[in-house]
Amino acid sequence: MMNFDFQNPTHIVFGHDRLDELDGLVPKDARLLILYGGGSVKRFGTLDKVIRALEGRDLFEFGGVEPNPRFSTLIKAVAAVKENNIDFLLAVGGGSVMDGTKFVALAAAYEGAPEDLLYRRVKAGEYGNVLPIGNVVTLPATGSEMNSGGVITHGKGKYVVGSPLVFPRFSILDPALTYTLPPAQVANGVIDTFVHVCEQYLTYPVDARLQDRMAEAILRTMIEIGRKTMDEPADYDLRANLMWSATMALNGLLRCGVPQDWSTHMIGHELTALFGIDHARTLAVILPVMLETRKEQKREKLLQYASRVWDIDEGDEESRINEAIKKTRDFFESLDVKTRLGEYGVKRAELTDVIAGLKDKKMTKLSERGDLGPDQVLAILNAAY
Ligand code: NZQ
Ligand code: ZN
Repeated sequence: MMNFDFQNPTHIVFGHDRLDELDGLVPKDARLLILYGGGSVKRFGTLDKVIRALEGRDLFEFGGVEPNPRFSTLIKAVAAVKENNIDFLLAVGGGSVMDGTKFVALAAAYEGAPEDLLYRRVKAGEYGNVLPIGNVVTLPATGSEMNSGGVITHGKGKYVVGSPLVFPRFSILDPALTYTLPPAQVANGVIDTFVHVCEQYLTYPVDARLQDRMAEAILRTMIEIGRKTMDEPADYDLRANLMWSATMALNGLLRCGVPQDWSTHMIGHELTALFGIDHARTLAVILPVMLETRKEQKREKLLQYASRVWDIDEGDEESRINEAIKKTRDFFESLDVKTRLGEYGVKRAELTDVIAGLKDKKMTKLSERGDLGPDQVLAILNAAY
């Protein structure tokens, strides 16, 4: 096992009917900015409940944070924070709203150009006072509710932003708030969770038995409940299992002491930025081909994955690995998610734009060993077409 640090300060408030507890989680004298997305929280009454629970405080609202939140939108929220002397940020929504809120907290505490946050890792000491963040989560997928990162869209690029300073102070996870999700968003949540685990698990063995078994537990849970959760929208326990799995998949626990390979995500971010494909769908397109292409580098873990996640124990090594990859693709497709790039309206000639985007961000040495360059990525994109 490799050396690691682990610290995660987020208070998780999990379960039904816990929105009223906002009153005890947010200081009584707070001046709050409540951030939300395109309106689902208004339509389904969540925002009203939040506002009621926070009665007596000075509340300001900022709606319209779009999926794959845009720099240009968030900068307006930063202005609202400054104008109104806000001292607490509350995100009510999915990953995009939570990520956007982290960016707002950082940008409001940074004196330089906010673009710096996208283009380089700004050190903790370069920020002034970063406002505390709370979340009311409506979409289980990204893990943003218990981690310190976010992904922001600027122009034709998506940029990973983060700092330990934006770990949420608390996140309310009420599975019942997800009943209103369209099945396609549930499928996105299942796949995003699944692939977050894969990127921390399907690398090479370092004898990290607990991390491996926790990873396998989440993968098996997704396989068990994925389709059911789409089909039975008001089943509390299914939603609860998805929600906690999504959080556990990317709160820092799985990556302790193990190699990581975020190649699928980095390529996926480019696909979203260029072609507007949902985040999780880009992962469903890239992951199976990534595993096929990197069979040799990932051989031992793929065999372990075949056996412990898919119960494939018969046949020679090659056929067990192939079968596990096929089952992975079939699983994504069983959630009504297409796994071929051509099915998303992308033209083959546009694939080189993905490479240009990665090069622009200096992402030319991806993978757990830094040995995945632009030529191999282009081959992966072509194979995924
Ligand atoms: O905007 P509204 O009207 O609220 O509708 C949203 C949005 O259209 C809707 N929705 C959310 N909760 C709902 C609901 N509709 C009905 N009922 C509810 N309860 O769902 C749509 C998608 O929301 P979004 O927040 O964009 O989805 P998701 O949670 O999948 O977040 C995706 C973003 O997170 C980033 C992605 O890149 C993408 O920008 N990621 C963040 C990560 C992190 N912070 O660690 C890691 C991930 O790998 C990912 O990259
Ligand atoms: Zn993801």
